[in-house]
Amino acid sequence: MLEQKILNIKTQALEEIKKVLNEKELFNLRVKYLGRKSEFNNILKGLKNLSPEEKRKIGPLANAVKKEIEGELKSAEKIIKSKKFDHQAEKIDITVPGNKIKRGHLHILTQVQNEIEDIFTSLGFEIADGPEVETEWYNFDALNIPADHPARDAWDTFWLKPEVQSSKLKIKSERIALRPHTSPAQIRYMQKNKPPFRIIVPGKCFRNEATDAKHEHTFYQFEALMVGDDINVGHFKYIGEQFFSKFFKKNIKVRLRPSFFPFTEPSFEFDISCTVCGGKGCQTCKHTGWLEIGGAGMVNQEVFVASGYPRNKYQGFAWGFGIERLAMMKYKIDDIRLFHSGDLRFVNQF
Ligand code: FA5
Repeated sequence: MLEQKILNIKTQALEEIKKVLNEKELFNLRVKYLGRKSEFNNILKGLKNLSPEEKRKIGPLANAVKKEIEGELKSAEKIIKSKKFDHQAEKIDITVPGNKIKRGHLHILTQVQNEIEDIFTSLGFEIADGPEVETEWYNFDALNIPADHPARDAWDTFWLKPEVQSSKLKIKSERIALRPHTSPAQIRYMQKNKPPFRIIVPGKCFRNEATDAKHEHTFYQFEALMVGDDINVGHFKYIGEQFFSKFFKKNIKVRLRPSFFPFTEPSFEFDISCTVCGGKGCQTCKHTGWLEIGGAGMVNQEVFVASGYPRNKYQGFAWGFGIERLAMMKYKIDDIRLFHSGDLRFVNQF
């Protein structure tokens, strides 16, 4: 009778274990069949009261059934755990796009410089380069600005200390400065190349002047230089109009006014028709219809001579425009100091 009872418990336990679905049900079954207050545990506790003969028969059977139930409970537990894992794995949808890593982007000045370079490359110009730390001769003398000429004051120069010059740069005889404009790059290019050529030289310039909404001590210019046997003001105006029309993506007219630069003769102030009103007159152009862009002119023969060319053999035009100023016009930025402020609210707008 006891034997049958044990076998019934086993049958019932194994059947219920087979149907178990989760860890909670499994726990309940363990308590029900093997727990301290379980029927089966009562039987085991009562074994000591049996006759020796019954003990020999029931004892091993009860132990075997206990082991079998324990074994089944363990396998059921493994299955439930592996199913739980599978279930979690299914929740991960590998087709969902991952979180995007935020990438930086080019600064607005680099974007504008790249755009300028692209336009000029499409017009057949080469991009040339020149040093930011430059000798006095390239900065001024070779550009026909004599040592005592008042025009030199127009470029408020950062001079390097003599001890820095001699120890680090190993140049004793000449004064060195951070270049105040990109024009010295004209000389360096012409010393190494013969006309005809057309180049632009974009780059950093430095001036020892107080900053305000339109002036920085460190800013960018791009020099243009086109030289050949008969390059004239007509070429100059045409290239200017082409460039500004492409840059502002609208038809732009160019106006030249007389000016003075020692390295150009004649020299011009270069204006473009207002990019906002198209020349009719508005607040941006102070109702003149024109916007001032920068200095320009036909290359002075003295500059050709300083570069090693024969006098009166070649003609060419040159200009030097501020890149920040162009970016300010194009994107309606009212303070030049924003460019180098590092303020992400500004930087991320472009
Ligand atoms: C020059 O620097 C001449 N080298 C330009 C030139 C080249 C004339 C070739 C003739 C032939 P200017 O000092 O005017 O000229 O500067 C040219 C442009 O640089 C200005 O129109 C302006 O756009 C920009 N610029 C000058 N100083 C500053 C400054 N402190 N901050 C920002 N932009 C400036």
